[in-house]
Amino acid sequence: MKSVIYAATAAAAFTGALAAPSTPKSKRQMGADCSAVSLSGNAFAQYEGYANSYYAAEVEAAVEQISDPDLAAAAARVADIPTFMWLDTRAKIDILEPELQMVPCDEIIGLVIYDLPGRDCAAKASNGELSYDQIDVYRSEYIDPIAEIISRYPGIPMALVIEPDSLPNLVTNADLQTCQDSASAYREGVAYALEQLNFDNVVMYLDAGHGGWLGWDDNLEPGAQEIADAYQRAGSPSQVMGVASNVAGWNAFSMNPGEFANADDAQWNSAQDEQRYAELFSPLLEQNGMPGQFIVDTGRNAVQGLRDEWGDWCNVDGAGFGVRPTSDTGDSNVDAFVWVKPGGESDGTSDTSADRYDSYCGKPDAFKPSPEAGTWNQEYFEMLVRNADPPL
Ligand code: BGC
Repeated sequence: MKSVIYAATAAAAFTGALAAPSTPKSKRQMGADCSAVSLSGNAFAQYEGYANSYYAAEVEAAVEQISDPDLAAAAARVADIPTFMWLDTRAKIDILEPELQMVPCDEIIGLVIYDLPGRDCAAKASNGELSYDQIDVYRSEYIDPIAEIISRYPGIPMALVIEPDSLPNLVTNADLQTCQDSASAYREGVAYALEQLNFDNVVMYLDAGHGGWLGWDDNLEPGAQEIADAYQRAGSPSQVMGVASNVAGWNAFSMNPGEFANADDAQWNSAQDEQRYAELFSPLLEQNGMPGQFIVDTGRNAVQGLRDEWGDWCNVDGAGFGVRPTSDTGDSNVDAFVWVKPGGESDGTSDTSADRYDSYCGKPDAFKPSPEAGTWNQEYFEMLVRNADPPL
């Protein structure tokens, strides 16, 4: 096996790699026909990335609305870039099995587990369907059915990002009543997910926020402890490889001086980019008894200098698609650059009268108008395409 192949075959062309498969996709073996695999080490270096049909359909519909032929051609390429698929409600579980049936045996599909009770406890935009006291529902109606489906596809390599924002919120937002209420369900729920989804053909990465979140000097150790505790509570599952950072985020992987290096409080944060965050956080995870590999979301981080403050997270205006998914990260702490947030799907509504309106989505550096979290924003998508770096 080549050591650097986490990229779709079509997308690999931009790097100059000539990786056209000898057999057309439609004739390749896929889904339940693939023979069982057991993943170890960096799975992204062993399989090509799978571009899921859910996001491809969103992108294809968007392309039809673009009249400028150059922009449309660039936009169309996004459909072939491996991007994670979010299972953000119980109803969404229905898309999982049909998708797994289409995954070729030599590709790895990225999935996001995202439906904890009391979800998004420190913000409003992504509040979920389960209230903080519904841990039983999370187990039996969310994780168990997903585990059941995965168990039928032992030959499909899968990479799972586990519950974005959840444990980081417990580390830094414990003063909020909503996060206090959610704390036990988060801890129990994350551990349950890790335990039940620990299949040989799966690799898991727990969400670890980003350098501007758990990367603060005072947050590093408590952050590593909180995450490693969940791992240990789950019985140290073999398929947990480490953590995912910058999920749906905006930080550069490598930028020196860092984007916020001149901020008043910069002296308290040495994790000025995701690479330095990984360098600081990975050994702490290991000291706390858990594997410390990183995957880093580079889906929307092409343009820096857009945010008024580091914590601004909602639909940042001026953003562009970033470095394509690849296992060629040049950093032994980092297994892959991945596209976790599907670019074009909103982070939150800018409609001030909506139930899930969060003031961050109304800030001057947030793109407006923006629809509800997870729904399509055509203008925003076109902006990401225009500002992509490297260009599409
Ligand atoms: C939303 C989810 C969505 C995800 C990916 C989150 O902010 O709350 O509903 O699936 O983003 O776009």
